[in-house]
Amino acid sequence: MARILDISFCLLFCIVILPENTTSYRSSSRPNVRSDFPKDFKFGAATSAYQTEGGWDADGKGPSMWDVALHNNPSLVLDRSNGDVSGDSYHVFDKDLKIIKELGLDFYRFSISWPRLLPNGDISSLNQAGVKYYNMVIDKLLANNIEPLVTMLHFDIPDEIQKLGGATNPIFVDYFASYANLLYKLFGDRVKNWVTINEPRLFCVYSYGNGILVPNLNTSGVGDYLCGDHMLKAHAKAYKIYQDHYFQQFRGRVGIVLEAVGTYCRKGGSLSLNDRAMEYYLGWMAHPLLSNKGDYPEVMRKEIDENSKLEGRAWSRLPKLDQHWIDLMKGTCDFLGLNYYSSQYGVPLNRTDQFKPPSFEQDVGLQLFADPSWPAANSWLTSFPKGLRDILNWIKSQYGDIDIIITENGWADGGQLKDTERIEYLTKHLQEVLNAIHIDKCNVKGYTYWSLLDSFEWVSGFSERFGLYSVDIGSPTKERTPKESAIVYKNIIRNRKI
Ligand code: NOJ
Repeated sequence: MARILDISFCLLFCIVILPENTTSYRSSSRPNVRSDFPKDFKFGAATSAYQTEGGWDADGKGPSMWDVALHNNPSLVLDRSNGDVSGDSYHVFDKDLKIIKELGLDFYRFSISWPRLLPNGDISSLNQAGVKYYNMVIDKLLANNIEPLVTMLHFDIPDEIQKLGGATNPIFVDYFASYANLLYKLFGDRVKNWVTINEPRLFCVYSYGNGILVPNLNTSGVGDYLCGDHMLKAHAKAYKIYQDHYFQQFRGRVGIVLEAVGTYCRKGGSLSLNDRAMEYYLGWMAHPLLSNKGDYPEVMRKEIDENSKLEGRAWSRLPKLDQHWIDLMKGTCDFLGLNYYSSQYGVPLNRTDQFKPPSFEQDVGLQLFADPSWPAANSWLTSFPKGLRDILNWIKSQYGDIDIIITENGWADGGQLKDTERIEYLTKHLQEVLNAIHIDKCNVKGYTYWSLLDSFEWVSGFSERFGLYSVDIGSPTKERTPKESAIVYKNIIRNRKI
Protein backbone atom coordinates (compact mmCIF):
# COMPACT_ATOMS: atom_id res chain seq x y z
CA MET A 1 0.00 0.00 0.00
CA ALA A 2 1.21 3.45 -0.70
CA ARG A 3 3.18 5.11 2.02
CA ILE A 4 4.19 8.72 1.86
CA LEU A 5 7.88 8.81 1.14
CA ASP A 6 9.21 11.96 -0.31
CA ILE A 7 11.63 10.57 -2.80
CA SER A 8 12.60 13.95 -4.20
CA PHE A 9 13.68 14.97 -0.72
CA CYS A 10 15.71 11.80 -0.58
CA LEU A 11 17.43 12.44 -3.87
CA LEU A 12 18.49 15.81 -2.60
CA PHE A 13 19.69 14.86 0.83
CA CYS A 14 20.16 11.20 1.52
CA ILE A 15 23.59 10.99 -0.02
CA VAL A 16 24.99 13.12 2.77
CA ILE A 17 22.91 11.74 5.61
CA LEU A 18 24.20 8.40 6.72
CA PRO A 19 22.82 6.41 9.61
CA GLU A 20 25.22 6.25 12.50
CA ASN A 21 26.02 3.08 14.33
CA THR A 22 25.25 4.59 17.70
CA THR A 23 22.52 2.68 19.45
CA SER A 24 21.54 -0.69 20.86
CA TYR A 25 19.32 -0.92 17.83
CA ARG A 26 21.85 -2.12 15.29
CA SER A 27 22.95 -5.73 15.34
CA SER A 28 26.54 -6.79 14.85
CA SER A 29 27.92 -7.02 11.34
CA ARG A 30 29.39 -10.49 11.82
CA PRO A 31 29.12 -12.42 8.58
CA ASN A 32 26.56 -15.17 8.03
CA VAL A 33 27.69 -18.22 9.96
CA ARG A 34 25.05 -20.84 9.36
CA SER A 35 22.40 -21.58 6.80
CA ASP A 36 20.37 -24.18 8.69
CA PHE A 37 17.21 -23.57 10.69
CA PRO A 38 16.65 -24.92 14.20
CA LYS A 39 14.69 -28.19 14.31
CA ASP A 40 11.60 -26.60 15.84
CA PHE A 41 11.56 -23.63 13.43
CA LYS A 42 8.31 -23.42 11.45
CA PHE A 43 7.52 -22.10 7.98
CA GLY A 44 4.25 -20.64 6.79
CA ALA A 45 2.55 -18.37 4.32
CA ALA A 46 -0.24 -15.86 4.89
CA THR A 47 -3.39 -14.36 3.40
CA SER A 48 -6.23 -12.25 4.75
CA ALA A 49 -9.98 -12.59 4.29
CA TYR A 50 -10.86 -9.40 2.42
CA GLN A 51 -7.79 -9.69 0.20
CA THR A 52 -8.29 -13.33 -0.80
CA GLU A 53 -11.69 -14.85 0.00
CA GLY A 54 -14.04 -13.13 -2.42
CA GLY A 55 -17.67 -14.22 -1.90
CA TRP A 56 -18.26 -10.73 -0.53
CA ASP A 57 -22.03 -11.28 -0.11
CA ALA A 58 -22.22 -15.07 -0.41
CA ASP A 59 -24.49 -17.12 1.86
CA GLY A 60 -25.51 -14.37 4.26
CA LYS A 61 -22.18 -12.57 4.71
CA GLY A 62 -22.59 -8.96 5.83
CA PRO A 63 -20.60 -6.09 4.32
CA SER A 64 -17.30 -4.99 5.79
CA MET A 65 -16.33 -1.33 5.69
CA TRP A 66 -14.11 -2.16 2.69
CA ASP A 67 -17.01 -3.66 0.72
CA VAL A 68 -19.14 -0.59 1.26
CA ALA A 69 -16.43 2.01 0.67
CA LEU A 70 -15.13 0.47 -2.55
CA HIS A 71 -18.61 -0.12 -3.96
CA ASN A 72 -19.44 3.53 -3.32
CA ASN A 73 -16.15 4.89 -4.51
CA PRO A 74 -14.03 2.63 -6.77
CA SER A 75 -11.51 5.40 -7.33
CA LEU A 76 -10.13 4.80 -3.84
CA VAL A 77 -8.13 1.98 -5.47
CA LEU A 78 -5.49 2.56 -8.13
CA ASP A 79 -6.94 0.12 -10.67
CA ARG A 80 -10.55 0.58 -9.45
CA SER A 81 -10.69 -3.08 -8.39
CA ASN A 82 -11.97 -4.50 -5.10
CA GLY A 83 -12.05 -7.70 -3.07
CA ASP A 84 -15.51 -8.87 -4.23
CA VAL A 85 -14.08 -11.97 -5.92
CA SER A 86 -10.26 -11.84 -5.81
CA GLY A 87 -8.79 -15.38 -5.61
CA ASP A 88 -12.26 -16.64 -4.57
CA SER A 89 -10.93 -18.80 -1.74
CA TYR A 90 -14.42 -18.86 -0.26
CA HIS A 91 -15.49 -21.03 -3.18
CA VAL A 92 -12.25 -22.76 -4.15
CA PHE A 93 -10.40 -23.30 -0.87
CA ASP A 94 -9.27 -26.72 -2.08
CA LYS A 95 -7.04 -24.97 -4.60
CA ASP A 96 -5.37 -23.14 -1.70
CA LEU A 97 -5.04 -26.35 0.27
CA LYS A 98 -3.34 -27.98 -2.69
CA ILE A 99 -0.64 -25.30 -2.92
CA ILE A 100 -0.21 -25.13 0.86
CA LYS A 101 0.55 -28.86 0.78
CA GLU A 102 2.71 -28.51 -2.31
CA LEU A 103 4.91 -25.96 -0.47
CA GLY A 104 5.13 -28.22 2.58
CA LEU A 105 4.09 -25.43 4.97
CA ASP A 106 4.05 -26.16 8.69
CA PHE A 107 1.34 -23.57 9.24
CA TYR A 108 -1.05 -21.37 7.29
CA ARG A 109 -1.90 -17.87 8.48
CA PHE A 110 -5.33 -16.66 7.40
CA SER A 111 -7.90 -14.29 8.84
CA ILE A 112 -11.55 -14.70 9.65
CA SER A 113 -13.93 -12.24 8.06
CA TRP A 114 -15.79 -10.82 11.06
CA PRO A 115 -18.85 -9.88 8.93
CA ARG A 116 -18.93 -13.33 7.29
CA LEU A 117 -19.45 -14.80 10.73
CA LEU A 118 -21.41 -11.93 12.25
CA PRO A 119 -23.07 -9.94 9.44
CA ASN A 120 -23.84 -6.97 11.67
CA GLY A 121 -20.78 -7.40 13.88
CA ASP A 122 -22.79 -8.46 16.89
CA ILE A 123 -23.05 -12.05 18.17
CA SER A 124 -26.84 -11.88 17.73
CA SER A 125 -26.35 -12.20 13.97
CA LEU A 126 -24.39 -15.49 13.74
CA ASN A 127 -24.23 -16.73 10.14
CA GLN A 128 -24.08 -20.54 10.07
CA ALA A 129 -22.66 -20.59 6.54
CA GLY A 130 -19.65 -18.65 7.86
CA VAL A 131 -19.20 -21.13 10.70
CA LYS A 132 -19.35 -23.97 8.20
CA TYR A 133 -16.77 -22.37 5.92
CA TYR A 134 -14.17 -21.79 8.64
CA ASN A 135 -14.79 -25.25 10.14
CA MET A 136 -14.06 -26.68 6.72
CA VAL A 137 -10.84 -24.65 6.34
CA ILE A 138 -9.57 -25.54 9.80
CA ASP A 139 -10.48 -29.23 9.54
CA LYS A 140 -8.86 -29.66 6.13
CA LEU A 141 -5.66 -27.96 7.29
CA LEU A 142 -5.44 -30.14 10.37
CA ALA A 143 -6.21 -33.29 8.41
CA ASN A 144 -3.10 -32.46 6.40
CA ASN A 145 -0.91 -31.68 9.42
CA ILE A 146 -0.93 -27.96 8.77
CA GLU A 147 -1.43 -25.74 11.80
CA PRO A 148 -3.90 -22.88 11.44
CA LEU A 149 -2.61 -19.50 12.66
CA VAL A 150 -5.79 -17.48 12.76
CA THR A 151 -6.10 -13.69 12.74
CA MET A 152 -9.34 -12.33 14.13
CA LEU A 153 -9.19 -8.89 12.53
CA HIS A 154 -7.22 -7.98 9.44
CA PHE A 155 -8.53 -4.46 8.59
CA ASP A 156 -12.07 -5.55 7.56
CA ILE A 157 -14.31 -4.17 10.32
CA PRO A 158 -18.03 -4.95 9.82
CA ASP A 159 -19.69 -1.95 8.23
CA GLU A 160 -22.35 -1.83 10.94
CA ILE A 161 -19.63 -1.22 13.50
CA GLN A 162 -17.87 1.29 11.26
CA LYS A 163 -21.12 3.24 11.07
CA LEU A 164 -20.73 3.75 14.82
CA GLY A 165 -17.24 5.15 14.30
CA GLY A 166 -15.49 1.78 14.09
CA ALA A 167 -12.41 1.51 16.25
CA THR A 168 -12.67 5.15 17.36
CA ASN A 169 -15.80 4.34 19.40
CA PRO A 170 -15.00 2.78 22.82
CA ILE A 171 -17.85 0.30 22.25
CA PHE A 172 -15.51 -1.32 19.70
CA VAL A 173 -13.67 -2.93 22.62
CA ASP A 174 -16.73 -4.86 23.74
CA TYR A 175 -17.81 -5.80 20.24
CA PHE A 176 -14.36 -7.20 19.57
CA ALA A 177 -14.15 -9.03 22.89
CA SER A 178 -17.47 -10.78 22.35
CA TYR A 179 -16.46 -11.68 18.77
CA ALA A 180 -13.20 -13.14 20.12
CA ASN A 181 -15.10 -15.10 22.73
CA LEU A 182 -17.28 -16.57 20.01
CA LEU A 183 -14.24 -17.56 17.96
CA TYR A 184 -12.71 -19.42 20.90
CA LYS A 185 -16.03 -21.16 21.53
CA LEU A 186 -16.50 -22.19 17.88
CA PHE A 187 -12.95 -23.06 16.84
CA GLY A 188 -10.78 -23.09 19.99
CA ASP A 189 -10.82 -26.87 20.25
CA ARG A 190 -8.74 -26.96 17.04
CA VAL A 191 -7.08 -23.54 16.65
CA LYS A 192 -4.14 -23.30 19.05
CA ASN A 193 -2.55 -20.09 17.82
CA TRP A 194 -4.61 -16.92 17.68
CA VAL A 195 -3.69 -13.43 16.51
CA THR A 196 -6.14 -10.84 17.80
CA ILE A 197 -5.39 -7.88 15.52
CA ASN A 198 -3.19 -7.35 12.48
CA GLU A 199 -0.96 -4.24 12.40
CA PRO A 200 -3.02 -2.02 14.74
CA ARG A 201 -0.61 0.94 14.45
CA LEU A 202 -0.62 1.06 10.68
CA PHE A 203 -4.33 0.38 10.55
CA CYS A 204 -5.14 3.21 12.97
CA VAL A 205 -2.84 5.76 11.34
CA TYR A 206 -3.87 4.92 7.77
CA SER A 207 -7.58 4.27 8.30
CA TYR A 208 -8.48 6.89 10.87
CA GLY A 209 -5.43 9.18 10.77
CA ASN A 210 -4.06 10.17 7.40
CA GLY A 211 -7.06 8.85 5.44
CA ILE A 212 -5.08 6.68 3.00
CA LEU A 213 -7.05 3.52 3.79
CA VAL A 214 -10.78 2.90 4.14
CA PRO A 215 -12.74 4.42 5.85
CA ASN A 216 -10.52 7.39 4.86
CA LEU A 217 -11.66 9.43 7.82
CA ASN A 218 -8.85 11.97 8.08
CA THR A 219 -9.13 12.41 11.82
CA SER A 220 -5.42 12.86 11.82
CA GLY A 221 -3.54 12.94 15.13
CA VAL A 222 -6.76 12.34 17.11
CA GLY A 223 -8.73 9.43 15.64
CA ASP A 224 -5.58 7.39 15.17
CA TYR A 225 -4.66 7.57 18.87
CA LEU A 226 -8.25 6.80 19.92
CA CYS A 227 -8.24 3.82 17.58
CA GLY A 228 -4.88 2.65 18.98
CA ASP A 229 -6.20 2.90 22.53
CA HIS A 230 -9.24 0.80 21.69
CA MET A 231 -7.23 -1.74 19.71
CA LEU A 232 -4.97 -2.34 22.69
CA LYS A 233 -7.92 -2.63 25.06
CA ALA A 234 -9.74 -4.97 22.67
CA HIS A 235 -6.63 -7.14 22.41
CA ALA A 236 -6.14 -7.24 26.18
CA LYS A 237 -9.77 -8.17 26.83
CA ALA A 238 -9.69 -10.90 24.20
CA TYR A 239 -6.50 -12.27 25.77
CA LYS A 240 -8.01 -12.26 29.24
CA ILE A 241 -11.16 -14.03 28.07
CA TYR A 242 -8.99 -16.81 26.69
CA GLN A 243 -6.98 -17.11 29.90
CA ASP A 244 -10.05 -17.05 32.14
CA HIS A 245 -12.36 -19.31 30.18
CA TYR A 246 -10.55 -21.35 27.56
CA PHE A 247 -6.89 -21.89 28.35
CA GLN A 248 -7.36 -24.73 30.78
CA GLN A 249 -9.36 -26.69 28.28
CA PHE A 250 -7.66 -25.76 25.00
CA ARG A 251 -4.05 -24.91 25.99
CA GLY A 252 -3.59 -22.53 23.05
CA ARG A 253 -1.76 -19.23 22.66
CA VAL A 254 -2.96 -15.71 21.91
CA GLY A 255 -0.73 -13.01 20.42
CA ILE A 256 -0.87 -9.89 18.26
CA VAL A 257 0.77 -8.90 14.97
CA LEU A 258 2.74 -5.64 15.00
CA GLU A 259 4.51 -4.19 12.00
CA ALA A 260 7.92 -2.59 12.22
CA VAL A 261 9.91 -0.47 9.83
CA GLY A 262 13.63 -0.22 10.46
CA THR A 263 14.26 3.49 10.93
CA TYR A 264 17.80 4.83 10.92
CA CYS A 265 18.54 8.35 12.03
CA ARG A 266 21.36 10.54 13.15
CA LYS A 267 21.90 10.75 16.87
CA GLY A 268 20.14 13.61 18.59
CA GLY A 269 18.69 14.64 21.95
CA SER A 270 18.82 12.53 25.09
CA LEU A 271 17.17 9.56 23.44
CA SER A 272 18.74 8.71 20.13
CA LEU A 273 16.42 9.23 17.22
CA ASN A 274 16.69 5.59 16.19
CA ASP A 275 15.27 4.45 19.49
CA ARG A 276 12.79 7.31 19.57
CA ALA A 277 11.47 6.37 16.13
CA MET A 278 11.16 2.76 17.22
CA GLU A 279 9.19 3.84 20.30
CA TYR A 280 6.65 5.55 18.06
CA TYR A 281 6.49 2.99 15.29
CA LEU A 282 6.65 -0.19 17.36
CA GLY A 283 6.62 0.82 21.03
CA TRP A 284 3.24 2.57 20.81
CA MET A 285 1.60 -0.86 20.57
CA ALA A 286 4.36 -3.05 22.02
CA HIS A 287 5.22 -1.14 25.20
CA PRO A 288 1.80 -1.44 26.88
CA LEU A 289 1.71 -5.17 26.13
CA LEU A 290 5.30 -6.33 26.47
CA SER A 291 7.28 -3.99 28.74
CA ASN A 292 7.61 -4.59 32.48
CA LYS A 293 6.33 -1.12 33.21
CA GLY A 294 3.40 -1.17 30.82
CA ASP A 295 1.64 1.97 29.51
CA TYR A 296 2.57 3.97 26.42
CA PRO A 297 6.25 4.75 25.82
CA GLU A 298 7.34 7.66 28.01
CA VAL A 299 8.59 9.63 25.03
CA MET A 300 5.17 9.50 23.35
CA ARG A 301 3.38 10.39 26.56
CA LYS A 302 5.60 13.41 27.12
CA GLU A 303 5.79 14.71 23.56
CA ILE A 304 2.16 14.25 22.56
CA ASP A 305 1.03 15.82 25.85
CA GLU A 306 3.30 18.78 25.10
CA ASN A 307 2.20 19.04 21.48
CA SER A 308 -1.45 18.94 22.51
CA LYS A 309 -0.85 21.73 25.00
CA LEU A 310 0.91 23.84 22.39
CA GLU A 311 -2.07 23.35 20.10
CA GLY A 312 -4.27 24.80 22.87
CA ARG A 313 -6.18 21.61 23.50
CA ALA A 314 -8.05 20.83 26.70
CA TRP A 315 -6.55 17.34 26.91
CA SER A 316 -3.86 15.24 25.29
CA ARG A 317 -4.55 13.63 21.93
CA LEU A 318 -2.93 10.45 23.30
CA PRO A 319 -5.53 9.01 25.68
CA LYS A 320 -4.42 8.33 29.26
CA LEU A 321 -4.39 4.72 30.40
CA ASP A 322 -5.48 4.24 34.00
CA GLN A 323 -3.90 1.63 36.27
CA HIS A 324 -6.69 -0.87 35.60
CA TRP A 325 -5.91 -0.88 31.88
CA ILE A 326 -2.16 -0.71 32.34
CA ASP A 327 -2.34 -3.88 34.44
CA LEU A 328 -4.82 -5.59 32.15
CA MET A 329 -2.67 -4.98 29.07
CA LYS A 330 0.67 -6.00 30.54
CA GLY A 331 1.90 -9.45 29.58
CA THR A 332 -0.99 -10.19 27.23
CA CYS A 333 1.04 -11.83 24.46
CA ASP A 334 2.00 -15.48 24.43
CA PHE A 335 3.95 -14.69 21.28
CA LEU A 336 4.66 -11.64 19.18
CA GLY A 337 3.86 -11.68 15.48
CA LEU A 338 6.19 -9.36 13.61
CA ASN A 339 5.54 -8.04 10.10
CA TYR A 340 8.64 -6.65 8.42
CA TYR A 341 8.94 -5.40 4.87
CA SER A 342 11.22 -2.41 4.68
CA SER A 343 13.49 0.14 6.27
CA GLN A 344 13.98 3.86 5.91
CA TYR A 345 16.19 6.74 6.93
CA GLY A 346 14.85 9.61 8.94
CA VAL A 347 15.89 13.21 9.55
CA PRO A 348 14.14 15.62 11.89
CA LEU A 349 11.13 17.14 10.22
CA ASN A 350 10.81 20.86 10.12
CA ARG A 351 7.43 21.30 11.81
CA THR A 352 6.18 23.63 9.13
CA ASP A 353 7.45 21.35 6.35
CA GLN A 354 5.13 18.71 5.12
CA PHE A 355 2.53 17.71 7.66
CA LYS A 356 0.16 20.17 9.21
CA PRO A 357 -0.30 19.42 12.90
CA PRO A 358 -1.77 17.44 14.37
CA SER A 359 -0.80 14.09 12.98
CA PHE A 360 1.04 10.96 13.98
CA GLU A 361 3.70 11.85 11.41
CA GLN A 362 4.08 15.35 12.88
CA ASP A 363 4.34 13.88 16.39
CA VAL A 364 7.05 11.47 15.24
CA GLY A 365 8.71 14.48 13.65
CA LEU A 366 10.74 12.65 11.06
CA GLN A 367 11.13 13.03 7.35
CA LEU A 368 11.50 9.49 6.02
CA PHE A 369 13.10 8.26 2.85
CA ALA A 370 14.63 5.14 1.37
CA ASP A 371 18.24 4.69 0.39
CA PRO A 372 18.39 4.87 -3.41
CA SER A 373 20.83 1.96 -3.43
CA TRP A 374 18.24 -0.41 -1.92
CA PRO A 375 16.24 -2.40 -4.51
CA ALA A 376 12.75 -0.89 -4.63
CA ALA A 377 9.43 -2.59 -5.41
CA ASN A 378 7.40 0.60 -4.99
CA SER A 379 7.45 3.86 -3.03
CA TRP A 380 7.46 2.18 0.38
CA LEU A 381 8.88 -1.29 -0.19
CA THR A 382 12.65 -1.38 -0.48
CA SER A 383 14.85 -4.33 0.33
CA PHE A 384 17.10 -3.90 3.35
CA PRO A 385 17.25 -7.37 4.96
CA LYS A 386 19.55 -6.33 7.80
CA GLY A 387 16.70 -4.09 9.02
CA LEU A 388 14.81 -7.22 10.04
CA ARG A 389 17.71 -8.48 12.13
CA ASP A 390 18.14 -5.05 13.73
CA ILE A 391 14.48 -4.94 14.72
CA LEU A 392 14.66 -8.43 16.20
CA ASN A 393 17.58 -7.21 18.28
CA TRP A 394 15.70 -4.09 19.33
CA ILE A 395 12.78 -6.21 20.49
CA LYS A 396 15.14 -8.47 22.44
CA SER A 397 16.83 -5.49 24.09
CA GLN A 398 13.47 -3.93 25.06
CA TYR A 399 11.20 -6.85 25.80
CA GLY A 400 13.41 -9.89 26.36
CA ASP A 401 12.96 -13.30 24.85
CA ILE A 402 9.29 -13.51 24.00
CA ASP A 403 8.59 -16.05 21.23
CA ILE A 404 8.59 -14.21 17.91
CA ILE A 405 6.98 -15.39 14.71
CA ILE A 406 7.70 -13.36 11.60
CA THR A 407 4.07 -13.20 10.48
CA GLU A 408 4.67 -11.30 7.20
CA ASN A 409 7.57 -10.52 4.93
CA GLY A 410 7.23 -10.27 1.18
CA TRP A 411 7.96 -8.59 -2.12
CA ALA A 412 5.68 -7.02 -4.73
CA ASP A 413 6.04 -7.06 -8.49
CA GLY A 414 3.86 -7.22 -11.57
CA GLY A 415 3.00 -10.89 -11.06
CA GLN A 416 5.44 -12.58 -13.47
CA LEU A 417 6.32 -16.25 -12.89
CA LYS A 418 10.05 -15.61 -13.21
CA ASP A 419 10.29 -13.56 -10.02
CA THR A 420 14.01 -13.28 -9.43
CA GLU A 421 13.71 -10.21 -7.17
CA ARG A 422 11.27 -12.04 -4.88
CA ILE A 423 13.71 -14.94 -4.58
CA GLU A 424 16.53 -12.53 -3.66
CA TYR A 425 14.32 -10.78 -1.13
CA LEU A 426 13.11 -14.02 0.43
CA THR A 427 16.48 -15.72 0.76
CA LYS A 428 18.29 -12.63 2.03
CA HIS A 429 15.65 -11.98 4.68
CA LEU A 430 15.72 -15.62 5.74
CA GLN A 431 19.51 -15.37 6.09
CA GLU A 432 19.08 -12.39 8.42
CA VAL A 433 16.56 -14.38 10.45
CA LEU A 434 19.22 -17.09 10.76
CA ASN A 435 21.82 -14.53 11.80
CA ALA A 436 19.45 -13.18 14.43
CA ILE A 437 18.88 -16.71 15.74
CA HIS A 438 22.41 -18.12 15.61
CA ILE A 439 24.55 -15.04 16.26
CA ASP A 440 22.30 -12.71 18.28
CA LYS A 441 20.29 -15.45 20.06
CA CYS A 442 16.96 -13.85 19.17
CA ASN A 443 14.03 -16.09 19.92
CA VAL A 444 12.50 -16.40 16.45
CA LYS A 445 10.26 -19.44 16.11
CA GLY A 446 8.81 -19.11 12.64
CA TYR A 447 8.67 -17.29 9.34
CA THR A 448 5.63 -16.50 7.20
CA TYR A 449 5.89 -15.36 3.61
CA TRP A 450 3.31 -12.76 2.50
CA SER A 451 1.48 -13.84 0.51
CA LEU A 452 0.62 -17.42 -0.36
CA LEU A 453 -1.00 -16.20 -3.56
CA ASP A 454 -1.60 -13.00 -5.49
CA SER A 455 -4.46 -11.07 -3.94
CA PHE A 456 -6.13 -7.69 -3.59
CA GLU A 457 -3.50 -5.26 -2.31
CA TRP A 458 -5.62 -2.55 -0.66
CA VAL A 459 -5.15 0.83 -2.40
CA SER A 460 -2.99 -0.73 -5.14
CA GLY A 461 -5.66 -3.30 -6.03
CA PHE A 462 -4.22 -5.97 -8.32
CA SER A 463 -1.57 -3.68 -9.77
CA GLU A 464 0.90 -5.17 -7.29
CA ARG A 465 1.31 -8.88 -6.65
CA PHE A 466 2.96 -10.40 -3.58
CA GLY A 467 2.13 -14.08 -4.15
CA LEU A 468 4.32 -17.15 -4.31
CA TYR A 469 1.58 -18.40 -6.61
CA SER A 470 0.08 -16.43 -9.43
CA VAL A 471 -3.71 -16.34 -9.65
CA ASP A 472 -5.52 -15.93 -12.92
CA ILE A 473 -7.74 -13.22 -11.46
CA GLY A 474 -9.65 -12.69 -14.71
CA SER A 475 -10.64 -16.35 -15.20
CA PRO A 476 -13.66 -17.99 -13.55
CA THR A 477 -11.61 -20.93 -12.29
CA LYS A 478 -8.89 -18.79 -10.63
CA GLU A 479 -6.11 -21.23 -11.39
CA ARG A 480 -3.05 -20.99 -9.12
CA THR A 481 0.36 -21.34 -10.81
CA PRO A 482 3.66 -21.55 -8.92
CA LYS A 483 6.16 -18.77 -9.49
CA GLU A 484 9.87 -19.60 -9.35
CA SER A 485 9.94 -18.30 -5.77
CA ALA A 486 7.44 -21.00 -4.75
CA ILE A 487 9.90 -23.68 -5.84
CA VAL A 488 12.74 -21.97 -3.96
CA TYR A 489 10.66 -21.62 -0.78
CA LYS A 490 9.50 -25.22 -1.05
CA ASN A 491 13.11 -26.44 -1.19
CA ILE A 492 14.14 -24.27 1.76
CA ILE A 493 11.26 -25.72 3.78
CA ARG A 494 12.07 -29.28 2.75
CA ASN A 495 15.79 -28.95 3.55
CA ARG A 496 15.35 -26.62 6.58
CA LYS A 497 18.28 -24.79 5.03
CA ILE A 498 18.84 -21.88 2.65
C1 NOJ B 1 0.70 -5.84 5.62
C2 NOJ B 1 -0.76 -6.17 5.64
O1 NOJ B 1 -1.02 -6.95 6.77
C3 NOJ B 1 -1.20 -6.92 4.38
O2 NOJ B 1 -2.59 -6.95 4.38
C4 NOJ B 1 -0.65 -6.26 3.14
O3 NOJ B 1 -1.10 -6.86 1.97
C5 NOJ B 1 0.86 -6.27 3.22
N1 NOJ B 1 1.27 -5.49 4.36
C6 NOJ B 1 1.54 -5.69 1.98
O4 NOJ B 1 1.20 -4.34 1.89
